[in-house]
Amino acid sequence: MKKLLYIHIPFCDSKCNYCAFNSYTNLNHLKKEYFKAIKKQFINDIEKFEFKEFETVFIGGGTPSTMPVSFYEKLFTLLSPYTKNTKEITIESNPNASYEWLKEIKNLGVNRISFGVQSFDDGKLKFLNRNHSSKLAIKTIENAKKAGFENINLDIIYATSLDNYELLKNDLKIIDSLPITHISAYSLMIEENTKWEGDYSKRKEDEELEIWFIEEIKKRFRQYEISNFGNPCLHNLGYWEHKEYLGIGSGAVGFNERKMFRYYTNKDVNEYIKNPTKYKYEFLNNSDIKKEKVLLGLRSIVGFEESILNKEEKKRAGILINEKKLFKKEGKIYSYDFLLADALSAYIIE
Ligand SMILES: C[S@@+](CC[C@H](N)C(=O)[O-])C[C@H]1O[C@@H](n2cnc3c(N)ncnc32)[C@H](O)[C@@H]1O
Ligand code: SF4
Repeated sequence: MKKLLYIHIPFCDSKCNYCAFNSYTNLNHLKKEYFKAIKKQFINDIEKFEFKEFETVFIGGGTPSTMPVSFYEKLFTLLSPYTKNTKEITIESNPNASYEWLKEIKNLGVNRISFGVQSFDDGKLKFLNRNHSSKLAIKTIENAKKAGFENINLDIIYATSLDNYELLKNDLKIIDSLPITHISAYSLMIEENTKWEGDYSKRKEDEELEIWFIEEIKKRFRQYEISNFGNPCLHNLGYWEHKEYLGIGSGAVGFNERKMFRYYTNKDVNEYIKNPTKYKYEFLNNSDIKKEKVLLGLRSIVGFEESILNKEEKKRAGILINEKKLFKKEGKIYSYDFLLADALSAYIIE
C-alpha cells in the first residue's frame, strides 16, 4: 500500500491573530539544525514504520516559504529514493514568496502550491495581522503560474466581523481573474493560545452571508469536502481515505493503521531538535478507526465501504438512504450534504 508523507515547517515571519498552528516567529536561528533533525526522524521512521514509497508529499506549516531553496534541495535529495512515483508534491506558501523561490521550488519537483491569502481586502488582511497586501498576493499568484504551477490553491477565511456582501463580492471578483484551480474556504475559528482567544467579537454570525459565499464558491469550483473546492488535493483525499502517513517535523502527526496508532512529535522546536524520534502515541481500537472512516468519508466525496458496518449500523445507514440523506454506489456509502457528516455518522454509529 502506498503512503502519504507530511513534513511540518514550524517557522513564520509573523503570527496571525487567529492562528493556533505550531508556528514560531522567533526561532529562525534553528532553521539549519532543523534540517538535521527532520533527516534523522525521516530515516528512523521509514525503517521503523516500514514505509517504502510515497504517493503524495505535503509540506505544510507554519510557513514553508520562509525556508530557503537550499533547504529544499537537501530535503528532496533525502526524499528522492521514495518519491520516484509520487503523484503530487504540495507546498504551502505565504503570498509574498519571490518569483525566483517559486521557480526553483517548481524545478525541484513541487507541482502544487497553496497560498494563505485569506482575503484580498487590505483592511481585513491588517485585521488578521497578515504580513502581505492584496496587491502583492495577486502578483505572487500570477508569478506562481508563470513559474509553471498548474495547481494553485488559495486559503480564504470568512465569517470575520469585517465580512459583508461587498467585501466578499470583491474577493470573488479577484478570484475570478486569477489562474487558480482550488479554494479552501475556512470559517474563522476562535482558538485557544492565539491573540484572539475567547474574543468572539472577531467572528460574524451571519448564516445567510456564509451560505451565500459558499454557494458562490460552488458556482466556480466543485465542492469535494466541507471546506475544499476545485481540483482535489490528492494528499488531503488520502487522509480522508484513511491512508497511512508519516508525520515529520516538530508538531507533526503520523498514522499507522497496521499497528493501530497515531504518533505525535514534540511541538517544542528546541526539544524536537534534541530528540526528533521521541513520540507520544495514541492507540486506536477497531471501533475508533471505524468511526473515523465513516466521519471522514461522509465529510467528503470519499465515502466509506458499507462492509465495515455491523448489522445494526447497516440498518441505520439504510434508514438514512431511504430518507435521501445518504446514497449507495458500488458497495460504498456517500453523503449528499457534507455539512451533515457529524450528525449522520453519530446516528449510524451510536
Ligand atoms: C498553515 S496555514 C497556510 C500557509 C501559511 N502559513 C499562510 O498562512 O500563508 C493554513 C491555513 O489555515 C487557515 N486557518 C488557520 N487558523 C485558522 C482559524 N483559526 N480559523 C480559520 N482558518 C484558519 C488559514 O486559512 C491558513 O491559510
Ligand atoms: S496562518 Fe500561516 S502565516 Fe499565519 S501564523 Fe498561522 S501558519 Fe503562520
